[in-house]
Amino acid sequence: MLDVTDRHCRYFLRQIAPGLHLYTEMISAAAVVHGDRSRLLAFDPAEHPVAVQLAGNEPAQLAAASRIAADFGYDEINLNVGCPSDRVQDGRLGACLMAEPERVADCVAAMQAAVAVPVTVKTRIGIDDRDDFDFLAGFVAPVAQAGCGTFIVHARKAILQGLSPHQNRTVPPLRHDRVHRLKREFPQLRIVVNGGIASLDEIEAQLEAVDGVMLGRKAAEDPWFLASVQARFLDASPGPAATDRAAVVRAMHAYLQREQGRGVRPHQVTRHMLGLYRGLPGARGWRRFLAEQACRDGASPELLLWSLAQVTGAGKHIADFTPVSS
Ligand SMILES: Cc1cc2nc3c(=O)[nH]c(=O)nc-3n(C[C@H](O)[C@H](O)[C@H](O)COP(=O)(O)O)c2cc1C
Repeated sequence: MLDVTDRHCRYFLRQIAPGLHLYTEMISAAAVVHGDRSRLLAFDPAEHPVAVQLAGNEPAQLAAASRIAADFGYDEINLNVGCPSDRVQDGRLGACLMAEPERVADCVAAMQAAVAVPVTVKTRIGIDDRDDFDFLAGFVAPVAQAGCGTFIVHARKAILQGLSPHQNRTVPPLRHDRVHRLKREFPQLRIVVNGGIASLDEIEAQLEAVDGVMLGRKAAEDPWFLASVQARFLDASPGPAATDRAAVVRAMHAYLQREQGRGVRPHQVTRHMLGLYRGLPGARGWRRFLAEQACRDGASPELLLWSLAQVTGAGKHIADFTPVSS
């Protein structure tokens, strides 16, 4: 998710749930090829398994970007065919590519020929008035033929004119049934459903019909929910879910100390953690203290431990707090 799942966010989510499959923000293939690769692609080994999501429409450029990303160690290369923003459409990227299945197939074939890791596609169930099942199947079939074995499907169509990206995540109705049918008609493909899924029971119900579930906003807004996802559904072999939120905060304190040495500002890390105590007493204090203090000049990693004290009532008081590194 753009401006959400950067490397700090992913590291944080990994502390909560070791079995998650994480995705980067959408990154332009052109930027990967021509821009500052380290800034765009660097990640912590703890993030594995992690997929990079690319936006592009030129097979050769996407192949080059995929190769670079694979060399950085990404476990999967995902192509965005779902973003409806005007800027993305102006570049003929994202959701509007659903209208050009042969082009997407050429892109996937070139990408898959360039890397050994899987190339996957994230898409929608349709665009504008091209929203029947045959249109979706007519997109998926050639792209699968070109080498894509996994489709992540946001179960809403995209309206390409007149709706903002935000509206495009809320206004078109969810049609999970379409994604279920896709799995029935293409049983050999791995089909992952996305869109509006926010409870353990919903995840369980979806897994009756498809191979996987992708969570977007729920993970960002209520990250601790992922601990219960880990406990109920995910492979525990990389390690169990974090036992409590405080352990996650302490791990992030150590991370922030490390990252600050590389010029990262506390706010860049802590902004992803504001929802950690969602629904618990003290959540507001946590959120407010962390948000205010992290933006101050010279804010230090210690502010995480102080914020923790706000929710645990561990005896530290805001009045005693010196937010600035000595
Ligand atoms: C702030 C924000 C940024 C997003 N950025 C991306 C993106 O970069 N790539 C992408 O495929 N989807 C992106 N999405 C869409 C989500 O991945 C997801 O498809 C959508 O929010 C529906 O799932 P959800 O109801 O679980 O959030 C973004 C969503 C939000 C809220």
